[in-house]
This record gives sequence, structure tokens and C-alpha cells, in this order.
Amino acid sequence: MSKTFSEWYDFFMSPLERGRFKKIRVQLLENASGRVLELGSGTGVNFPFYRDVEVTAIEPSPFMVTRSLKRKEQSPVPIEVVQAGAEQLPFPDNSFDTVVATLVFCTIPNVEAALEEIKRVCKPDGKVLMFEHVKMTQPTLAKVQEVLTPYWEKVCDGCCLDRETHVLVEKKGFYIEETKDYYKSLFKTMILKNEKKG
Ligand SMILES: C[S@@+](CC[C@H](N)C(=O)[O-])C[C@H]1O[C@@H](n2cnc3c(N)ncnc32)[C@H](O)[C@@H]1O
Repeated sequence: MSKTFSEWYDFFMSPLERGRFKKIRVQLLENASGRVLELGSGTGVNFPFYRDVEVTAIEPSPFMVTRSLKRKEQSPVPIEVVQAGAEQLPFPDNSFDTVVATLVFCTIPNVEAALEEIKRVCKPDGKVLMFEHVKMTQPTLAKVQEVLTPYWEKVCDGCCLDRETHVLVEKKGFYIEETKDYYKSLFKTMILKNEKKG
């Protein structure tokens, strides 16, 4: 993540964040419990919305880590930010009760490796909370996403518009317990159960 992108991220996202996104984030994070791992925490947009949990956040961009420090201090819960990528998590097996990923699976270069790491560090009965944009169900809109992605990726620091994260999670053995669509299925929240054997 470039320094410039990190500096402008909150500004560009603010119309969405002030509107529907805040409510979506708050509702999703109400499902977090115990020890929480947040992936790709960026500027720390989720940090003010956690309650009664202990959060470890990983973020590979040093610029994003720096920008998240103010929100970390303002959070009502303890938050530790570690510089790392989701494909290689520096934590032992079965460390977390909840894993949170918001608007991050569009950008992670190796999605399959990241899902395997979630499975490893999440407790056998743990849950994964996701808020992601995905490839849309309407075929024409999905085609537009495909065509735009190579250009969008360059402008938005690796963000792919046409990822099928909701399909991949099931392939990797997560069970979708609850899902909600927003903006004509462009955005989805998902509550996943980590179904590995203890
Ligand atoms: C669109 S931003 C979303 C930030 C934040 N999660 C939110 O909800 O606003 C995507 C974030 O994913 C991070 N990222 C990129 N590659 C990653 C990886 N391999 N593992 C974890 N995070 C990654 C980026 O640095 C960036 O902060």
C-alpha cells in the first residue's frame, strides 16, 4: 500500500463511511467475541466499533499502521497493531475466537493462503466476520467488473473488483452461517463458522 493511497484513503471513503458503511460495520462487529484478529486493518476504521473484546490487528503497510494509531488510542478496547500480511500470520494455531476482515479480501494477493491461515489461527469453534465487495450476480454488471479490474487495480493499489470471496470461503471449508447483500449484491457481510476439527 503506497504512502499516497494511505493518506487519501479516509478522504475518499468518507461519503460511504458516514452513510451506510458505519451501520454495516457496527452491526457486523457486534458478533465479535473474545480474542479478535483483524486482517488488513488499514487506517483503523473498525477500531472505534469494538466492544468487550481484545483485538490484535495485522496490517502490512507501515503507512497504514501509522495512520491507524490515532484510532487505536481512541478505541474503547485494547488493540495491538502488528505489521504483517494475512498469508503468513505470526500467531500460533487456535489463537483467536473471532477473525475480522473488512474490505480486504479484494486486495490480498494470495487469497487461498490467507484463508488457510485464518483456518489455522482461528479456534475450531471460532467465527469469521467479513464485509467485502464481490463479483456481482447480475451478468452484465459482473462483466463490467471484470473489464474494469485491470485498471481499478492500478489506481486503487491492488484492489480487484471481481473477486468471488463468498465462493472461495466455502471451497476452503468455511460454513456461511449468515449473509446479507448490500448495493445490489456488490457488497456482502458474512458470518462464517470455522468448521475444522479441534
Ligand atoms: C481497502 S483497504 C481496507 C482497510 C480496512 N480493513 C477497512 O475496512 O477500511 C485494504 C487493506 O488491506 C491491506 N492489505 C493489502 N495486502 C494485504 C495482505 N496481504 N494481508 C493483509 N492486509 C493486506 C492494505 O494495506 C489495506 O490497508
